[in-house]
Amino acid sequence: MIANPTLPEARGPLSEAVITALARGSPPEEAPREVRDAEPLGEDLQLALYVCYELHYRGFDGVDPCREWDPELLRLRGRLEDRFLPALRAESPGGTDTAAALGELLVEDPGAYGVSHHLLDTGQWWEMREYLAHRSIYHLKEADPHAWVIPRLQGESKAALVAVEFDEFGGGRGERMHAKLFADLLDGAGLDSRYGHYLDHVPAQTLATVNLMSLFGLHRALRGALVGHFAAAEITTPPGADRLARALTRLGAGAECTRFFTEHIEADAVHEQVMRRDVIGDLLAREPELAADVVLGIQATTFLEDRLAAHLLGSWRAGRTSLRRPLP
Ligand SMILES: [Fe+2]
Ligand SMILES: [Fe+2]
Repeated sequence: MIANPTLPEARGPLSEAVITALARGSPPEEAPREVRDAEPLGEDLQLALYVCYELHYRGFDGVDPCREWDPELLRLRGRLEDRFLPALRAESPGGTDTAAALGELLVEDPGAYGVSHHLLDTGQWWEMREYLAHRSIYHLKEADPHAWVIPRLQGESKAALVAVEFDEFGGGRGERMHAKLFADLLDGAGLDSRYGHYLDHVPAQTLATVNLMSLFGLHRALRGALVGHFAAAEITTPPGADRLARALTRLGAGAECTRFFTEHIEADAVHEQVMRRDVIGDLLAREPELAADVVLGIQATTFLEDRLAAHLLGSWRAGRTSLRRPLP
């Protein structure tokens, strides 16, 4: 029996409308004013969107799986996306030069000091555990949002993206799925590895990084952005994964904890090349008009990841939790 997550606690009128509709089996309250007034990257809108998207993954305990295609919920989701996507566009410099956008990610800024640097140098165990709780929202469904794009690609770009996904899903072996390696890491760190367990803990900054993937993955019109996001994620992972594996070792964690990150050091160095050359290269050879969307996917990923990093480091420097409630 698979345990699905329970519905989270609402964070405002929009998330309240969605969660109440799912809990009661009723249509969502019309909320045009709340949608218009909500902060597009804020807690309420991001949670409402996350809950809508989750119906396409595992759903929630006690919620009829048929609600996935409830037209009223889909209409509300569309209104939320009409706030989220323009906010992402507004924060992205834009352009159509995919090589330049990716090139900026290929060389790490020597002066940059991100979350993995902090955790490696001076991070404490409680900060590492918080980081893992944030990332659990995505990594326990790692690569699932990218699978939505497969039917929207053709030829070499489809074949190459599936080759990357094959690795993400463990190369045919359930115990090697990256989501499973992350669950092992959570268990090793004394955290709860049940899917969605930390949903009430994580703030909007974290939810937005996951909602981005669902938004790009679930809309065929945004297939270029999904591919751009995927490439950006693969390019930026290896150096950070190396630091995080060493940070875990420094903090005394065992091999069951470091495996997730060590696996990503080499795998993503290969994935990055496949994504750039075979997936993006072939996609743009077929559909050159998608270049601006590929760039959007890259830039929006950088924007949201930087925003999350600023939140984590700012919280920890101030000596306070980065979560909405501290871990037990
Ligand atoms: Fe992975
Ligand atoms: Fe990867």
